[in-house]
Amino acid sequence: MIQVGDKKFEEYLTADQIQDCVKQLAHQIDTDYQGKDLLILGILNGAFLFMADLVKYMTSDPEISFLKFASYEGTSSTGKVNELIGLNEDLTGKHILIVEDIVDSGNTLAHILEILSDKKAASIHTATLFFKPEAYQQSIELQYVGKEIPNLFVVGYGMDYLGKGRNLSGLYQLKP
Ligand code: IMP
Ligand code: MG
Repeated sequence: MIQVGDKKFEEYLTADQIQDCVKQLAHQIDTDYQGKDLLILGILNGAFLFMADLVKYMTSDPEISFLKFASYEGTSSTGKVNELIGLNEDLTGKHILIVEDIVDSGNTLAHILEILSDKKAASIHTATLFFKPEAYQQSIELQYVGKEIPNLFVVGYGMDYLGKGRNLSGLYQLKP
């Protein structure tokens, strides 16, 4: 049992179990994209550890970059605006792999795919380390899923609770 902020969490996956998942994904991705021009786009902040380990386990040499949602108060009455920042690469003709820490409702992913849809990429696929099928509200196919997990809040391995817990090497589940 660990404490992050005001909440208690229980270990759900050890660091070794996570690394095994990441290795398997790296191997699959290497195999599937053999001989192809691959650009991997990690979604910050949550995917930073997963991305780092994933690309180290890969034996091919993809281009690597990161995207981030900059959330700010809009000037219009609509309130919050989510702008995707960091896209400096030309996606034309490239095979794109979006790397997410976790897909929950899938709304974030849907938003990203919509923004990238007119960039003339050769293909756009998604790799997520964790997936909560019970929370999923989209119908977008997820090509690479490390592990399906129950619909409970988790921290660790890049994921935070109120900004804390990202540096934990294992995955921890909120005590129900
Ligand atoms: P979605 O848009 O509901 O799919 O949520 C996607 C984003 O919310 C992920 O990229 C995470 O950054 C964050 N998120 C979703 N579930 C969790 C969780 O259980 N713990 C920490 N962050 C989460
Ligand atoms: Mg995220």
